[in-house]
Amino acid sequence: MQLEDHIGDILRKALIFFEREQASLVTLSGLTPEQWQQLSEHGFIQDIPPQSLPWEKIGKFFRLDPQRLQAIAEGWLPPKLEPIPLGPVSGFHHIQTAGSTSFESDSLLNTVNSYLLANSSDRQAILFDPGWNATPTLEIIRRENLNLTHIFITHQHTDHIYALPDFLKNFPQAVLINFDYYKSAPLKPITLFQDRLTVTPLLTPGHSRDHLCFRLCGILPKQELMIIGDCLFSGSIGNPFYDKEKEKTSLMDIIFVGSPNTILCPGHGPLTTLKAELDHNPILSHPEWQQRIRNNNSLSNEYHSI
Ligand SMILES: [Fe+2]
Repeated sequence: MQLEDHIGDILRKALIFFEREQASLVTLSGLTPEQWQQLSEHGFIQDIPPQSLPWEKIGKFFRLDPQRLQAIAEGWLPPKLEPIPLGPVSGFHHIQTAGSTSFESDSLLNTVNSYLLANSSDRQAILFDPGWNATPTLEIIRRENLNLTHIFITHQHTDHIYALPDFLKNFPQAVLINFDYYKSAPLKPITLFQDRLTVTPLLTPGHSRDHLCFRLCGILPKQELMIIGDCLFSGSIGNPFYDKEKEKTSLMDIIFVGSPNTILCPGHGPLTTLKAELDHNPILSHPEWQQRIRNNNSLSNEYHSI
């Protein structure tokens, strides 16, 4: 599976995150405006191999590690984590659905991740983000004779919740867990799967105001798993539509916590691990982020001692 963001997407997000001018990037990197246009739109420049692009200059401009940028341009991918060996849980299904709010062009199709977990002994199923289309998930639910009891929502952007009415029509008793800013219901851990799984909702504003991540404990013997919505994509970060400082804080204080082998399940693109992102994500190589990572006491000693 490809990364959600190509190198052009990442550089455009870096311009926003680090408040730099696109015109200065083009001048200082030595790229022509046409070359920058190609790189930012497509992630490559026709007839120039990725290793020949001016990564040193681009890295210096943003204060990002040029090797991490080049690695993404050359096709870096996080470690392959699926299928996940789930112990007492019978199924971890990573389902991708595509859709668009535009009726004009298929090129604007957006692919989003849903995650369905099922418990083998009581046939209970829980869903994280309905996505664009309920059909593939409902097929698994019917095939495995599951009862969908909980629907967790990371945030209420259209791509993540478009299919919600179809799930509620089929499972009207399902409990919906999302963050309602105005009712501000307390976020409490929920115990499921005959007490073998705890799902802890964590408020992580930044990409959106209502954004939640979910920490899952108990499904893997020595490993946690986090559903992280659009806070971070492997090799990149989510667009800070609500507040970029809050997004940084959400990443540092809520997501980059605990063991480096924590599995991260983003709203788009492949699964990754906390360690893979800390070691390879170009945005995190900025000195300010590096300083925050060094000072992050909630990140396990296991990572700091590596
Ligand atoms: Fe989103």
